[in-house]
Amino acid sequence: MNTEPAPETLRAAMVAALREDGTIRTERIAEVLGRVPRERFAPEAQPTEAYDPERAVVTKRDTDGLAISSVSAARIQAFMLEQAAPRPGENVLEIGSGGMFASYLAELVAPDGAVTTMDIDPEVTGRARRLLDDARYEHVRVVTADGAFGVPEHAPFDLIVVTVGAPDVPPAWVEQLAPGGRIVVPLRVRGLMRSLVLVRAGDHLVSIGYELCGFVPMQGAAENRERLVLLHDEPGEEVGLRLDDGDQVDVEALSAALATPRQEVWSGVTVGGEEPIDDLDLWLATALDGHTRLTATPAARAKGIVASASPLGVATVVVGGTLAYRTVRPTDEARTRFELGAYGHGPAAGTAAARLVHEIHVWDQEHRGGPGARFEIHPAGTPDDRLPAGRVVDKTHTRITISWPGKP
Ligand SMILES: C[S@@+](CC[C@H](N)C(=O)[O-])C[C@H]1O[C@@H](n2cnc3c(N)ncnc32)[C@H](O)[C@@H]1O
Repeated sequence: MNTEPAPETLRAAMVAALREDGTIRTERIAEVLGRVPRERFAPEAQPTEAYDPERAVVTKRDTDGLAISSVSAARIQAFMLEQAAPRPGENVLEIGSGGMFASYLAELVAPDGAVTTMDIDPEVTGRARRLLDDARYEHVRVVTADGAFGVPEHAPFDLIVVTVGAPDVPPAWVEQLAPGGRIVVPLRVRGLMRSLVLVRAGDHLVSIGYELCGFVPMQGAAENRERLVLLHDEPGEEVGLRLDDGDQVDVEALSAALATPRQEVWSGVTVGGEEPIDDLDLWLATALDGHTRLTATPAARAKGIVASASPLGVATVVVGGTLAYRTVRPTDEARTRFELGAYGHGPAAGTAAARLVHEIHVWDQEHRGGPGARFEIHPAGTPDDRLPAGRVVDKTHTRITISWPGKP
C-alpha cells in the first residue's frame, strides 16, 4: 500500500510551515509555492524529501564528494523569492540552474515577463531543460555558460538572482542590470555567506537586506574557494582554519600554540539556546583584524583539543602565533541559556581572547537586535576616501565594505 502523502498535501504543509515561521510573508509567493509541483523538479528524491523545507536535494557531486549542484531547500528558495520580490512583466536572470527556482520565477513574472536560467554545467542545463519542458515551462530560456559573464544578449535584467555561492560581484552583473534593478546574491565575505539584496546607488551597489544562507561554491572564471589549513592533522581529529580573502597565517606557530593550555575569558553576555547569533559572527568578522574561522571534527572536540566542532568554523582572531576563538558555556542545568566567551592559545592568549570578548560586548550593547550591517559593493580601484567607514574587503573586481549603522 502506498502511504506516501499526495503532493498537494505535502505542498500545503510546506507552505503552512514556511508561513508559520515567517519565511513566507507575501501572498503571491505563498500561492506560487502552493501550486508548482516541486516533486517534478526533484525526481531523484522522494516527494517527502522534496517538500521538506530544510532539505536540499543534491543532484551532483565532484570527485571528492563535495556537492556541486542541488535543488536548494524550500526555505532558502522561499526567502530568496521574498528578497527578490519578482514582479509581473520583469526580465529575470537566474545564475545557477536546476529548473525548480526558475519555475517559481516564471510564475511570479507571468504573464508577460521573461526568465533566463543559466548554468556552467551542461548536465545541469540539460536536466533543467527537460524538467521545465515536462512541467510546461517551455518559455523559460535555459543557457549553458559561465554566470560570471551574465547573458548580455538578453540584458538588461530587472532582477538577477544568483543561486550559487559567489566570492565576488563580477562587473557583468552590474553592467547587465536595468536602471532600478536588483541583484540577490549569496556573497561570501571574510568566510561568511549572506544572501544580499543589492540595488544600485551611482557607481556602486548597496544592500537593502540580507539573510544567512549556505550554497555550493561558484565554478569558472570567478571561482575562488576558501582554503583550509590544518593546525592538527591527526586523522579523524583534524583542526583547521578556514582562510578567505587573502588571509595569511603562520601555520607552524599556530599549530604549536594549539598544543598549549588555553586561557579563558568570559563576557557575562548570554544568549538563548535557540537564539540565532549570525549577526554576532558578522560583527566579529567586521570588527576583528585577523579574523578567520576555526573548524574541527567532533573527535577533536571530544578529545578536548578544541571546544567547538562546527564544520563551517567559529569566529577566530589570529594575532601572529596566537589564536582565540568564540565559545559558549551553559548558564543553567537545562542548558537553555549560554554565556559567550573566548578561548585563547599561544603567547598572547589572554589578550587575544579579551579582544574577542570586547567585541562581543560592543555587539551586545550597540548592535544586538539592531538594524544589522550594511554592505556596499564598490568597483576595484575606488579610493579609500570614497568608501564608507567600516571594514573594507578587497576582492578581484570590487571593494566590499561592511558598516554598522547601530541602533536608533
Ligand atoms: C544550488 S545549485 C542551483 C539550484 C537551482 N537554482 C534550483 O532551482 O534549486 C547551484 C548551481 O550553480 C552552478 N554553477 C556553479 N558555478 C557557476 C557559474 N560560474 N555559472 C553558472 N552556474 C554555476 C552549479 O553547476 C549548480 O548547478
